[in-house]
Amino acid sequence: MARKLIIAGNWKMNHGAGKTREIVCGLRAELADVMAVDIVVCPPFTSLAAAVEAAAGSNIVVAAQNLHWAENGAFTGEISAAMLTELPVTYVIIGHSERRHYFGETDETVNQRLRAALDAGLIPIVCVGETQHEREAGETEAVVGRQLDGGLAGLNTAEVTGTVIAYEPVWAIGTGLTATPDQAQAVHAFIRNRIRAAHGADAADQVRIQYGGSVKVDNAAELMSQADIDGALVGGASLKVDDFAALVRNAAAG
Ligand code: PGA
Repeated sequence: MARKLIIAGNWKMNHGAGKTREIVCGLRAELADVMAVDIVVCPPFTSLAAAVEAAAGSNIVVAAQNLHWAENGAFTGEISAAMLTELPVTYVIIGHSERRHYFGETDETVNQRLRAALDAGLIPIVCVGETQHEREAGETEAVVGRQLDGGLAGLNTAEVTGTVIAYEPVWAIGTGLTATPDQAQAVHAFIRNRIRAAHGADAADQVRIQYGGSVKVDNAAELMSQADIDGALVGGASLKVDDFAALVRNAAAG
């Protein structure tokens, strides 16, 4: 079945509010006619309001890069789902490998954040992926399967269907090493089959699975042409208007 592509630019800890406004305005101008792709930008928390304002009325929507699972309370430095929906942002990234590796994120905390996001009406983008060591040890499917089972635990079929999964092999993030289209497709098919086994054919057919890890202008179209790749989560190549706009166009053409 035809799933609409979703290309999200994960800016990580880059671009304050001023630069965010400039980039979103640039993207709106460049991409106004692209209707075949859901276009998402994911700025840092302090730039979200500027992004939402600059994207208003356009085909670009905004995602946060994380959220906390509690409604409110004594959690210094954290941001709740309600704070995000008030802006409003549409999507939220959960369990990015940088959160897992630098900030102690686990499948359990991914699951708690996912629950909070879904309860608030945010669309989660949940990241999974193996390290180089795990791939070399032949553990890719075991690792990704465990991250999926733990991360998505307790979600009903409608919730799983509406969640975006991002397969991001850790060894490909920010390294310039992209998974080959075949390597990516194999893991995407594994993920879709896992969802089919747990939630049935309709959920598996509808759930969108992005690839992430050194997606660039030049490789986007080939990756997107794979049967089970429904979009991209893009880091470095999403930081400039020209790069990201060209990447979105290439992906749409792929
Ligand atoms: P990259 O980052 O495109 O710079 O490899 C991808 C990501 O971390 O989502």
